[in-house]
Amino acid sequence: MVTLIHELSSEIIGKRLGRNHYNANGTLLLRKGVELNERYFNHFKERGYKSIFVLDNNPGKIITERIVVPDKFIARAPFIVRKIFSGLSRDAQANLNKAKGELVHVAKDILLNVDDTVTRIKQVVDLKRQEDYLYQHSVNVAIFSILIGKKLQFHEMKLIKLAVAALLHDFGMLFIDPEIVNKETKLENVEFEKVKSHTTKGFSHLVRNCFFDGMATVATVQHHECFDGSGYPKNLSGSDIHEFSRIITLADFFDAWTSDRPHRRLNPIENAVEYIRCNENKIFDPTLVKAFITIF
Ligand SMILES: [Fe+2]
Repeated sequence: MVTLIHELSSEIIGKRLGRNHYNANGTLLLRKGVELNERYFNHFKERGYKSIFVLDNNPGKIITERIVVPDKFIARAPFIVRKIFSGLSRDAQANLNKAKGELVHVAKDILLNVDDTVTRIKQVVDLKRQEDYLYQHSVNVAIFSILIGKKLQFHEMKLIKLAVAALLHDFGMLFIDPEIVNKETKLENVEFEKVKSHTTKGFSHLVRNCFFDGMATVATVQHHECFDGSGYPKNLSGSDIHEFSRIITLADFFDAWTSDRPHRRLNPIENAVEYIRCNENKIFDPTLVKAFITIF
């Protein structure tokens, strides 16, 4: 048996679910192997899924899926990050201090749960729901950043700081109109400019209200800078972009590209790796690209 990603269409009715399915609170809703019926199909559709894991019961094909992070952990972590982001976006100092402590805790937990011996990854960490895409994405970017950091032999403290920075990278998306974020058609220029402002809005909120240090917030403002200077908001290039930000740019791109989004279906991992290869020296730091692609 092998788990495949299938487009969410009526064709999946009668097939078997390929992985345990959890809701946004981390509660198990459907077990791997359950037969998919019309009710389940509608459940996935209503939550904005465009893809689904199914079992391919082609006899003779017995492949055990090796996963980077246990599914129970990956189901629960976005829920915790959602609560932390909510605390960070409020003004009360007690909320902020609690949220900051919890953020470091989650970063440590991700580090503990990442299995960096898994190579030849062929499957995404998880499929995204529309309602909590930001939190699932933030956790996944932390996972991939840790994998890159481990390849670069960062020590534990540095990996935790990197994971905190990765968790916070898209914090500013909280300040962008959800109608624009979830738009199913191409963004107008004016809308795209608003989306771009998530970098500076997130950064200034975290620095001004939460007093995060530079290591934690640098990627929030820099993760859309490009290695050749063609990114935003400051057109920084090369080593003027902090090492954490260069790592997180790569992890962010990879996770976004291999995720279902309101306007498109996910891209296969091979396409994402190929795109990354073609854009080393342009978008991505070539040294990091070399380290990253060894896990696929
Ligand atoms: Fe972003």
